[in-house]
Amino acid sequence: MKLSFQKSSVDRISAELVTVFIHQDPSVFKKETTALSKVMDIAPMLEAGDFRAKNDESAFVYLQSEKKPKRILLVGLGEKKDVTLERYRRAAAFAAKRARKVKAKSVVLFLPSLLHKPFDSFVAFAEGAYLSLYRFDKYLSKEKGEAAKVEEVGIASDDGKVSAISKEALHHAQVLCEATFLARDLANAPGNEIYPETLAKAAQDSARRCGYKATVLDERKIKELGMGGVIGVCQGSVRRPRFIILEYGPASKKPVVLVGKGVTFDTGGISIKPSANMAEMKMDMSGAAAVVGTFEAVSRLKLPVHLVGLIPAVENMPSGSAVRPGDILRHLNGKTSEVDNTDAEGRLILADALAYADRYKPAAVIDLATLTGAIVVALGHVTTGMMGNDEELMDKLKASGDSTFERVWQLPLFDEYEKLIKSDIADVKNVGGRWAGSITAALFLKKFTGSYKWAHLDIAGTAILEEAQEYIPKGGSGVGVRLLTDFLKNWK
Ligand code: BES
Ligand code: MN
Ligand code: ZN
Repeated sequence: MKLSFQKSSVDRISAELVTVFIHQDPSVFKKETTALSKVMDIAPMLEAGDFRAKNDESAFVYLQSEKKPKRILLVGLGEKKDVTLERYRRAAAFAAKRARKVKAKSVVLFLPSLLHKPFDSFVAFAEGAYLSLYRFDKYLSKEKGEAAKVEEVGIASDDGKVSAISKEALHHAQVLCEATFLARDLANAPGNEIYPETLAKAAQDSARRCGYKATVLDERKIKELGMGGVIGVCQGSVRRPRFIILEYGPASKKPVVLVGKGVTFDTGGISIKPSANMAEMKMDMSGAAAVVGTFEAVSRLKLPVHLVGLIPAVENMPSGSAVRPGDILRHLNGKTSEVDNTDAEGRLILADALAYADRYKPAAVIDLATLTGAIVVALGHVTTGMMGNDEELMDKLKASGDSTFERVWQLPLFDEYEKLIKSDIADVKNVGGRWAGSITAALFLKKFTGSYKWAHLDIAGTAILEEAQEYIPKGGSGVGVRLLTDFLKNWK
């Protein structure tokens, strides 16, 4: 999709739909509708009380003239004091989806007089519109050509300050949205398209495109290194495992390491899942998708960081060769785990990756994983669960979560939970029983972290949506890409 900018007043824009965002405060409203009143009579609309620019209010207006926009959508933003970047994203998403609904091929968003941060506001409008128009349609042979598609999203403003930052903001938004789309595409792709080998191929393609490094370890190397968790989980599948290593930026700096769970399909293995909703488990590599998407964004934006990405990629299947409940695996750092439930496979492969991360002497390690159903019970599809060993690192992630609205919330890792994953015959057990499931999963991971600052993001609820949100269609959300890119932008 094309994103563009034009410096113009409303009455000189031609697009199939022009959207004008307006604040409710009388003085601002007046200013924001001055140009508009050159092409239409606003008074009757106000008198009728149909549109007062309250948040969520909107109205279509149709004009006669040929040159001027023939179809205008007014979108209210409410009072300026209540406005946030997220309100901008949602308003833009609303406009873009209305454009699609009326089959407009081009939509222009005419920006309101902005907040004190014109760059962030510009990006918020652009990403709200762009992200809302995502569709996973590559397998639709019929609808593809027929479905209405918005081909161009334009941003317009007559403000010199906005125009000055427009080029950079446009690029920033485009990169973030394309990287999020990549993560969504990878997650939404079915298990017969994306399996460890093809996930690795997708990462290599991205690396080639964007100029970062990708190394792929095959099964022989994984075994040789001693990644018993990866080997154990994959051994029931005909799809062979891969361990994907991404690297970007100057090796002179200590890296931030991103670890992504790459279970390309999770049947549960011998502890098999019920068949209802099992298809969702094609998205059990959403952590991996977020890591690849973040590399795409960070490298294209040329952020001054040293970044390493680690993705253990496996398929969790039941078969005659599958790992059994009761089996004991030896991980990369020498510690052993008792597999009490083969459906708690994510932590088994992440254990090896977290232990591997220590080799980089990282400044920080962040893992992303669709790890537990329990986090969905606790936080729903709204918030990512966060646990870790460093408050400062988690505070930074929290701040990035608030500004990107990919929000995270911390859960505790108190010592008292540890006994739940104690094993009599191995160093740790891979399940902790019914209670505090997300915490025991994270405590399992903690046994395999090195001497680095670590944060774990459980994205099981936020990466996989059963229902669309404002600018995220149902399915894979691409969560993590904007969060981590913002975090890395602010990384010292
Ligand atoms: N991939 C699942 C977690 C999951 C559940 C992700 C729902 C997205 C939506 C994970 O591998 C899993 O199966 N976890 C088990 C752990 C249990 C056996 C301790 C779970 O949450 O039920
Ligand atoms: Mn599982
Ligand atoms: Zn899983």
